[in-house]
Amino acid sequence: MRALAKTNAAPGLELIDAPEPTCGPDDVKIRVLRAGLCGTDLHLEKWDEWAASTVRVPQIIGHEFFGEVVEIGANVTSVQVGQRASGEGHIVCGECRNCRAGRRHLCIRTIGIGVNRDGAFADYVVIPASNVWVQPDSMDPDVGAVFDPFGNATHTTLSFPIAGEDILVTGAGPIGVMGAAIAKHVGARNVVVTDVSDYRLDLARAAGADRVVNVTRERVADAQRELGMREGFDIGLEMSGHPSAVEEMIANMNHGGRIAMLGLPAGPFPIDWSRVITHMITIKGIYGREMYDTWYAMSAMLQSSSALEHAVRSVITHRFPAEQWEDAFAAARSGQCGKVVMDWS
Ligand SMILES: NC(=O)c1ccc[n+]([C@@H]2O[C@H](COP(=O)([O-])OP(=O)(O)OC[C@H]3O[C@@H](n4cnc5c(N)ncnc54)[C@H](O)[C@@H]3O)[C@@H](O)[C@H]2O)c1
Ligand SMILES: [Zn+2]
Ligand SMILES: [Zn+2]
Repeated sequence: MRALAKTNAAPGLELIDAPEPTCGPDDVKIRVLRAGLCGTDLHLEKWDEWAASTVRVPQIIGHEFFGEVVEIGANVTSVQVGQRASGEGHIVCGECRNCRAGRRHLCIRTIGIGVNRDGAFADYVVIPASNVWVQPDSMDPDVGAVFDPFGNATHTTLSFPIAGEDILVTGAGPIGVMGAAIAKHVGARNVVVTDVSDYRLDLARAAGADRVVNVTRERVADAQRELGMREGFDIGLEMSGHPSAVEEMIANMNHGGRIAMLGLPAGPFPIDWSRVITHMITIKGIYGREMYDTWYAMSAMLQSSSALEHAVRSVITHRFPAEQWEDAFAAARSGQCGKVVMDWS
C-alpha cells in the first residue's frame, strides 16, 4: 500500500510502498479516504528536537483521518465492515488510575497514532475498535477527517459555561476558528478572535466571530470598547501557543474570568501571576479530546446545527491528492490556509 513515512532520523518524508497493517482480534482496519494535516505532522516532517526525541523510524505518520471499515477483529462487536468512521488518535492503557476511572484523556501512558505507532497517511490504518468513531453514511469525508481538531475545539470551548458570556479566542488557526463557531453555537454574546494573519482572521469572521483583531495593528481593548463591553472577557480560549497572546488575554479578562489553554507554547514563558491571583482568574490546560464525551458532543452539535456544520466545513481550504503530499505540506507550512486535507481515495 501507499504510505507517507519517516524513513530516516532526519528531515523529510517519503511516499513508500509499505505492507498493509494486520488487524488483531480487538482491532479495526480502515481504508483511509481523507487525512488532515496538523502542526504535529509539520514538526515530524521538519524533524525538530521534539520529533527526534519522540519518533522511532521507520514510522508512518498522520492521525487525523476518515475512512471506510474494511476488516474487524474476531472480538469486535461495536463496528461493522462497510461503516464509515473517524478515529481517536490517542490509544490509552486501560489500567492506570485515570483510565480505570473513565478519564481516559488523562491516561499516563497514552500512545499517539502516527507518532508512537503507524498512522493514517496511508491506504490503510489499523486501530483498536474502542478508538473508532462510527460516522453516519452521509458524512462528508472532508468533515469526517477534521473530527480530531474539531474535537480539540469542542473540548476547549465547552470547558466552561459559555451561554451569554463574552469570549476571547487567541489564535485563528483551524482550531481557534472552530472554537469561535462553537462558542456562537452555544450562545456566547461577543466572540472576539485575534491572530497576526488577515487570511486567518477572515476565516474566523466567516465562521461567526463578532469581531476580529489583528494584533500586529490593533489591541484587544479597542475591540472591547467598540463592542460596548464595559468589563473584561468572561472566558478565554487560548488557541495560539504564543506568549504575547496569553499576556494580552490575561490583561483583558474580567475578574473571575476563566481561561482554557489548548495552544502549545514552544517553551516556558513568564506570565503576570499577581494579576491572575488578584483577579481570581482560573487557568485550565486542555489536552486532546475527552474520551469519548467530546466525540458525542461534537457529533450532536454538528447534527443539530447547519450553521456549525458550515463553519466546520469552511476551515477546510485545501485538498491535495496523496501523491501531491509535498504541495500539501507546503500549503500547511505557508499559513495561507485553514485545514489542509489529503485525498487518499
Ligand atoms: N493541547 C492539545 O491537545 C492540542 C491539540 C492540537 C493542537 N494544539 C495546539 O493548539 C494550537 C492551535 O492549533 P491549530 O492547528 O489551530 O494551530 P495553528 O498553528 O494553525 O494556529 C495558531 C494560530 O495562532 C496565530 N498566532 C500566532 N501568534 C499569535 C498571537 N500573538 N496572537 C494571536 N494569534 C497568534 C497563528 O497565526 C495561527 O493562525 C497550536 O498551538 C497547537 O499546537 C494543542
Ligand atoms: Zn493533529
Ligand atoms: Zn491509562
